Amino acid sequence: MTSLSAASVHCVDHPLVQHKLTLMRDVECSTKKFRGLMNEIGMLLCYEVTRDLPLQEIDIVTPLTPMRAPVIAGKKLVFAPILRAGVGFLDGMLTLVPAARVAHIGLYRDPQTLGAVEYYFKAPHDLADRLVIVMDPMLATGNSAVAALDRLKEWGAVDIRFCCLLAAPEGISKLQAHHPDVKIWTCSIEEKLNDHGYIVPGLGDAGDRMFGTK
Ligand code: URA
Repeated sequence: MTSLSAASVHCVDHPLVQHKLTLMRDVECSTKKFRGLMNEIGMLLCYEVTRDLPLQEIDIVTPLTPMRAPVIAGKKLVFAPILRAGVGFLDGMLTLVPAARVAHIGLYRDPQTLGAVEYYFKAPHDLADRLVIVMDPMLATGNSAVAALDRLKEWGAVDIRFCCLLAAPEGISKLQAHHPDVKIWTCSIEEKLNDHGYIVPGLGDAGDRMFGTK
């Protein structure tokens, strides 16, 4: 039995997101369409995950008058896609926040153990001063998410949020057990994982569907 702490999971139930997700789940959805939808949902998720960012007022002058107006406070965000499927969200997120920094975390799933194996890591040096938004479409076993968060914290990150398309209860529990400070944004909490670590009902292998590798 998996116990989830609801307070730290935001399920994005916006009709546009839910509609696009259904199109992506359909086995008939083409690679091109799948990739486009992932990009669009990336944008919508970015909107949700940044909803409570702190603002500060600055002085500007409109064509009519000087005024104090709000801008986002603090240093630029860091987007951290977990390779390779996490890249699917990146363009959409960068469309909304073009000045964000990007950290890449390369992890693959060992097909036997389902454990996460790192093959690449490159991140800005000042993670400690920035909000880091980690992205991976599928929160399945949670192994990759936990490994990525371990690594980012080792590198100094202290303020981290996690975005995915689908989350299995098993993955949410694992992430919450290892990183209770990291809040999750997902478009759906799914039924379960199957014996091969795939999310059910899910959408299959997100990387293969996005890049046409199967
Ligand atoms: N990764 C995927 O791409 N799909 C799953 O269902 C689980 C992990």
